[in-house]
Amino acid sequence: MMRTMTESKKKNVPQMIIPRELIPRLFPPLPQLNTPWNTDHSFSGGIAPFYNTFTKIMFYILGYREEFLRKSVISDCLTNTGGTTKIKRAIDVGCGTGEFTFALEWVLQNLNCHITGIDISPHMISLARKKLKDRKESNHYKNVVSFRQLDATKMPFQDDSTDLIIASLSFHEFSPTLLHDVLNECHRILKPEGRLLIFDYGDRVVKKPAMLTKLAYYIIIQIETWKTQYYIRCGREEFFCSLSPMKLIYQKEYAGGIFKASVFQPLKE
Ligand SMILES: C[S@@+](CC[C@H](N)C(=O)[O-])C[C@H]1O[C@@H](n2cnc3c(N)ncnc32)[C@H](O)[C@@H]1O
Repeated sequence: MMRTMTESKKKNVPQMIIPRELIPRLFPPLPQLNTPWNTDHSFSGGIAPFYNTFTKIMFYILGYREEFLRKSVISDCLTNTGGTTKIKRAIDVGCGTGEFTFALEWVLQNLNCHITGIDISPHMISLARKKLKDRKESNHYKNVVSFRQLDATKMPFQDDSTDLIIASLSFHEFSPTLLHDVLNECHRILKPEGRLLIFDYGDRVVKKPAMLTKLAYYIIIQIETWKTQYYIRCGREEFFCSLSPMKLIYQKEYAGGIFKASVFQPLKE
């Protein structure tokens, strides 16, 4: 099937999409570690307050300032896929405490864009709203940012209404069936020329990584093991494009391959 999909992409003919009901059979659930972060996908009140400390430390160990990396990822991806000027409506799926949403706000600066961060966890959303409130006094950008507690499989936005959807470190949370539902929901609300930017764990580490990079990757993959295996096993881009009709238009690795950003465009009639 994979060869057929690659060929079909080259010839620009419709892709083969896996029917939803086949997904659990093709991708049976992986053994799940019984840890707090794996048993509760909606980031409980217990975990949420520590989440930002965790990500800051994680990025720091890898040699990045979190804010800088997030802004660079969005800038790279948008600059290389048509720029920012046409973006008027953007959504951050699984926004957590809003770090990627605020990075997007910085990249779009004064474009008068409506940016909505959505997350299923009320705890993450309330932290994002608190940050937004604290930022408002010092923030001069003209974008309108808001945060809403919503499930990414049922977003109350109109068909073909959105120019850009971004998602950082959230797609690895989704099982294959959930991935199917979220990707098809993104497809529905994106404009035909819209973009979906997914930033998440990568598939590999460069051949000769620094010791610390290697260790960090090992720890991350151990913590996130049952989830990231789907990406690593299935080949992320082909896999995503087999769940919803879209094409890959750009990708870039960060931190020696620990992270990867991929940009897709929906294929619409
Ligand atoms: C690892 S956090 C990433 C947060 C943030 N995007 C970042 O880059 O730090 C994953 C987020 O996905 C959210 N999430 C999980 N399932 C979701 C769903 N079905 N709809 C919306 N958000 C979801 C979780 O609540 C969590 O906040």
